[in-house]
Amino acid sequence: MISDNLPLSRSLIKKKIFQGCAKLGGAVCKDPSAAVDFGDEVTFEGVKINTDRFIYILLNKPKGVVCATRDNGKTVMDLLPPEFYRKGLFPVGRLDKDTTGILLITDDGDFAHRLLSPKNHVNKTYEVTLDKSIPKYLTDEFLRGVSFSDGRRFMPAKLEITGETSARVTICEGKYHQIKLMFARYGLTVTQLKRTVFGGLKLDKNLQEGQSRLLTNCELKSLENQKFHNI
Ligand code: URA
Repeated sequence: MISDNLPLSRSLIKKKIFQGCAKLGGAVCKDPSAAVDFGDEVTFEGVKINTDRFIYILLNKPKGVVCATRDNGKTVMDLLPPEFYRKGLFPVGRLDKDTTGILLITDDGDFAHRLLSPKNHVNKTYEVTLDKSIPKYLTDEFLRGVSFSDGRRFMPAKLEITGETSARVTICEGKYHQIKLMFARYGLTVTQLKRTVFGGLKLDKNLQEGQSRLLTNCELKSLENQKFHNI
């Protein structure tokens, strides 16, 4: 029996077995009723499949893909290599379609919940390009917390002006379109947005846009220990 809890879809495993391209424990498996469980050695078409209880993937998101599990267009899930396929995968939070950079994808709901919980104030840093020059006073405005006439307010954020029309912004919440809205409040339009840090984890320079890799145990531990960073 293929374990119900196994993170890989049963139908995928069965399909690969029927196709004769599945190896279990190093041997070709032709038996669709074969037992497969967490930690077992599984290869499909020569590619080792991760059968750990949970999987933690770091993706360098390119522009033009949607941060969702399903969409009419291309999603971040479509970028993952087959060895990372499993049921229950979802992106940890959202980046806009035109935003690039670091994105975690996992099937561990508790882990994602801890990182996304507003209580935990996990820091995220973005490199931003704007359509106009950035007034210096925005640094103080961001630090006070950007507020809107309708009463909405974002928590204090760190703004570092890195060029005439470029900046680095660190926020500790993750509201919808937050960075774009913060600049729009002062009449500036974000023309490029790239997330470079998520919870202390930096974007891996060796990952081209669209590429992904598993988190190391050390990275996973450092994310687990993330908490309560104020700007
Ligand atoms: N803020 C935005 O405006 N967009 C993103 O994708 C992330 C943060």
